[in-house]
Amino acid sequence: MPEPFRVPLPVPPAARPARTEAGADFYELDQREGQVEILPGRKTTVWGYNGIFPGPTFTTRSGRRTVVGVRNMLTVPTAMHLHGGVTPPQSDGYPTDLVLPTRCAPGQNRYDAAAAPPGAHSMGAERMQGDTTTAVRTYDYPLPQRAATLWYHDHRMDFSAPQVWRGLAGIFIVRDEEDDRLPLPGGDRDIPLMLADRSFEADGSFRYPALDPTCTRRPGVEDAYMDGVLGDVQLVNGAPWPELEVSNTRYRLRLLNASNARRYQLRLDTEDGAHPPFIQIGSDGGLLAAPQRLATLAMAPAERLDVVIDFSEHPVGTRITLVNTAADGRMRQVMRFHIVRAEKDDSRVPARLSAFDKLTATRAMPVRSFDFRRTGDGEERQMWTINGKPFSTSKVWAAPRLGSVERWRFSSDFHHPVHLHLAQFQVVARGNRTPDPCDAGWKDTVDVRPYEVVEVLVRFDGYRGRYMLHCHNLEHEDMAMMANFDVV
Ligand code: C2O
Ligand code: CU
Repeated sequence: MPEPFRVPLPVPPAARPARTEAGADFYELDQREGQVEILPGRKTTVWGYNGIFPGPTFTTRSGRRTVVGVRNMLTVPTAMHLHGGVTPPQSDGYPTDLVLPTRCAPGQNRYDAAAAPPGAHSMGAERMQGDTTTAVRTYDYPLPQRAATLWYHDHRMDFSAPQVWRGLAGIFIVRDEEDDRLPLPGGDRDIPLMLADRSFEADGSFRYPALDPTCTRRPGVEDAYMDGVLGDVQLVNGAPWPELEVSNTRYRLRLLNASNARRYQLRLDTEDGAHPPFIQIGSDGGLLAAPQRLATLAMAPAERLDVVIDFSEHPVGTRITLVNTAADGRMRQVMRFHIVRAEKDDSRVPARLSAFDKLTATRAMPVRSFDFRRTGDGEERQMWTINGKPFSTSKVWAAPRLGSVERWRFSSDFHHPVHLHLAQFQVVARGNRTPDPCDAGWKDTVDVRPYEVVEVLVRFDGYRGRYMLHCHNLEHEDMAMMANFDVV
């Protein structure tokens, strides 16, 4: 097991457009195997975008058309979803809109329903209706949305969890003028941090308790992992417990929880027992109206928090550890910052960040409830359902109107990070209380805790068509905890 804080924090390379035309950037992305060194001295085979993990970081602009041509050079089908993207339905990475391996003839790799043994999580042929497959898929993102930190990841029906675990995830930043104008730290002091836990075999390969490690036939994990798969190595940007050397200035850190199932309660610890604050400036959907100082940050899978840390309050030489107080043992540590030099800083965090459109509930708004729960007893295969139903491509759970705002209530029997495609929301209540500080801002994912009801106001903007909401615990997602909604 690697010693913590020995590896420098890697920053994923920038994605570069293959060509640029007036008004649009065209990228090419290969999904392929790559050999990377995650544990010192070991090789890990990843399934990565361009063969790396995390994939290259996209930096795009609000309203600028971004077209990503994806070629699948893996041995399994894939689907790519831009998480947090306001995306037309045909580019949303719907789980059955597959990108087939280029080496397989279309139709040959439908692995699917028919091939899965009875009792597999796959709900049979019905779940596969509407399946559209291609060998190369072009995702077209017009990005009619505010500056925000999004991410892209695999979303293949029944197999998202093992395929993301093996590396199919990357960061996608949208910028805009409002964000550019702020005097926040920028350049190499604006850093994405993708947090993800993983486990490894002795030879360096990823360890994952899949029923079928080839991801070609039987989906799902062993029953013992019903609640989700946790790793025993903490990675940040693909490196175990890394260290970042910083100057005594402010840094903007874009935190993403890209873990399958792990939740974080983040805190900063100095060697003398102090806990410097995070200054939160943004959430899933971009900037907050005003910054907030927080001693701890709660992050469920798929959530993002945009924070500034001010290292000028500490002498050069100070080491500050980012810890996860929700974990034990060595998983309590995440990464470390080491202040190694003095530098001039003309950044600051202004008291007003963004013109922010706060929603308020009205009685005229349609109300819908979604209950996230485990079902099945004894004989029956256990699965995770929404309103008692496992996912099916042909069922529609809700049909909100384009341009409307609705009140959605999420209840649960467990921790379920609930995510909506397309639509962003604001959290208005959590278990009869006012929301938590980390619920602030525009969100696309909210952690619904056991026996709690979370109410959100959702704005359906952008496009009509079929989208989904689901639990972003990726094992739950693969075990059918997804639902369709049609924007009409
Ligand atoms: Cu990040 Cu439907 O997922
Ligand atoms: Cu869940």
